[in-house]
Amino acid sequence: MTRIAEGRVVIVTGAGRGLGRAHALAFAEQGAKVVVNDLGVGLDGVPGPQSPAGLVVAEIRAGGGEAVAHGGDIATGEGASSLVQCAVSAFGRLDTLVNNAGFLRDRMLVNLEEDDWDAVMRVHLKGHFLPLRAAAAWWRAEAKAGRPVAARVVNTSSGAGLSGAVGQGNYSAAKAGILGLTLVAAAEMGRYGVQVNAIAPAARTRMTEQVFARTMAAPAAGEFDAMAPENVSPLVVWLGSEASAGVSGRVFETEGGRITVMEGWRPGPTADRGARWTPAEAGEAALKLLAAAEPPQRVYGT
Ligand SMILES: NC(=O)c1ccc[n+]([C@@H]2O[C@H](COP(=O)([O-])OP(=O)(O)OC[C@H]3O[C@@H](n4cnc5c(N)ncnc54)[C@H](O)[C@@H]3O)[C@@H](O)[C@H]2O)c1
Repeated sequence: MTRIAEGRVVIVTGAGRGLGRAHALAFAEQGAKVVVNDLGVGLDGVPGPQSPAGLVVAEIRAGGGEAVAHGGDIATGEGASSLVQCAVSAFGRLDTLVNNAGFLRDRMLVNLEEDDWDAVMRVHLKGHFLPLRAAAAWWRAEAKAGRPVAARVVNTSSGAGLSGAVGQGNYSAAKAGILGLTLVAAAEMGRYGVQVNAIAPAARTRMTEQVFARTMAAPAAGEFDAMAPENVSPLVVWLGSEASAGVSGRVFETEGGRITVMEGWRPGPTADRGARWTPAEAGEAALKLLAAAEPPQRVYGT
């Protein structure tokens, strides 16, 4: 049986549990050598007693695969560059980066502390940018040295980033930022052989099992467990493999057995009078355009 990620070297951030763990195991099952990163923090980002990365490495090795653990903070320059170094020193190269690590500090905007804003923007948005930049520098050097590069980056956004979610102003802004970053990275890095895409997953993990207890509940024995994190990983593995050649700058929503290509901001109804509007005229024109436009997506929690 051909394995889709045979021999590829793959980094998964936040892979000690939840979706990241499922991705790491799925890549290993498909023949990849995996760097399992996890800082081992609590649900709110507060450091915990130990990183669960080693447990996932042990699981992969027990299944006959190859993996190493990295316990650094991906939202620091040192953590991100040592992560890429870890892949190169353990396995001699890097092929795929899956940015996945993160945590939540949910609050209504009026009660959102500056620290909760900063912490969530930092771990998701900076925590995507820094590993992406470190990996991109490595791939650019490879391309400039004349070696073939078929690199892949899979970023992790969220329905909150696509449509907004009540009580998650910080998280929605960070996850929407990841979509913008994905588009720019895909446009800039294609010339070095790097493809960059994003997913918006939904699955039962510690992040969701209490907040969305009903939607995330496990089914009766024998039924398809639509909310298992393992359902999200096959698309991530394909995007992270050479088989996805030609796919870049795209966003997929994925949960259970469903995959949706998200179609982003694009011009809708337009009016151009070729001269400056008065505010009253601009308002009249805007109302006409809104009447002709598609209604917006519902914000989660409304
Ligand atoms: N579970 C869902 O339904 C869902 C929905 C949309 C988006 N997401 C996104 O998917 C990703 C994974 O979420 P999950 O549900 O598996 O959560 P999780 O809490 O189970 O796993 C996240 C992991 O990231 C690690 N981590 C946090 N900060 C880190 C840092 N600075 N450096 C390294 N590791 C760090 C944590 O220790 C944890 O093990 C997140 O980006 C999340 O926002 C999840």
